[in-house]
Amino acid sequence: MEPIQIAIDGPASAGKSTIAKILATDLNFVYVDTGAMYRSVTLAALKQGVNPAAEADVIALLPHLEISFAPGNPVQKVFLNGEEVTDDIRSNAVTGNVSAVASYGAVRTAMVAQQRQIAAQGGVVMDGRDIGTTVLPDAEVKVFLIASVKERALRRFKENQAKGMTETLAEIEAAVEKRDYLDSHREISPLKKAADAVELDTTGLSIDGVVDAVKQIIAEKVGK
Ligand code: CDP
Ligand code: CDP
Repeated sequence: MEPIQIAIDGPASAGKSTIAKILATDLNFVYVDTGAMYRSVTLAALKQGVNPAAEADVIALLPHLEISFAPGNPVQKVFLNGEEVTDDIRSNAVTGNVSAVASYGAVRTAMVAQQRQIAAQGGVVMDGRDIGTTVLPDAEVKVFLIASVKERALRRFKENQAKGMTETLAEIEAAVEKRDYLDSHREISPLKKAADAVELDTTGLSIDGVVDAVKQIIAEKVGK
């Protein structure tokens, strides 16, 4: 397939990264996990004792941060100033503070610039919240993945249990709802379906079922 841009957006635990990674592997495209970038900035703040709610202090960190990826499937490694942070960026502390950090305009400007730079290098599957609306407005394929909040919380619960994390299903559901609310109501580039995105409700669908449905959407959009 020609090197096109595929944007996958949607709320927390809709299956974006799982689906995007499989597609990128199958198409031999680069996968970019933009959430990992906002998570890395949040981790940097927490590590350096900077309050994530203090916008100016978080912004002051930006010139000193270098976020990079090492391709890999199923796990793409994430590095912050050369140190691997692949697991650290998934901690509850990071998850609980990332929406605040991602609401800051200067943080978004810096991350979006890096995301566009990567996308300019060839075929890309990028997942996030504002890829179809802001980062890659001309992406050939835009998919907006959704699922009921109950199912999304259950997916994250099972994933966390497998990692030995101990939050209850109710706690995870509340955290997912809160993050979705913050991400959808922020001023800059809120979580929103792009006008030309195809919405896919994945409630009750297996991972393979979603991959097949997205491949169908790609075929309809680019005729392959
Ligand atoms: O995988 P999960 O749904 O837990 O979230 P993520 O994709 O890792 O994103 C973490 C957070 O980063 C989101 O809740 C948003 O606050 C922020 N984010 C964003 O603002 N814009 C993006 N393009 C991607 C993530
Ligand atoms: O990236 P995002 O937060 O949207 O979700 P994810 O991390 O790809 O998926 C969250 C969890 O749901 C993972 O454990 C996936 O294996 C699982 N999942 C699922 O059970 N069924 C799907 N159709 C998609 C994802």
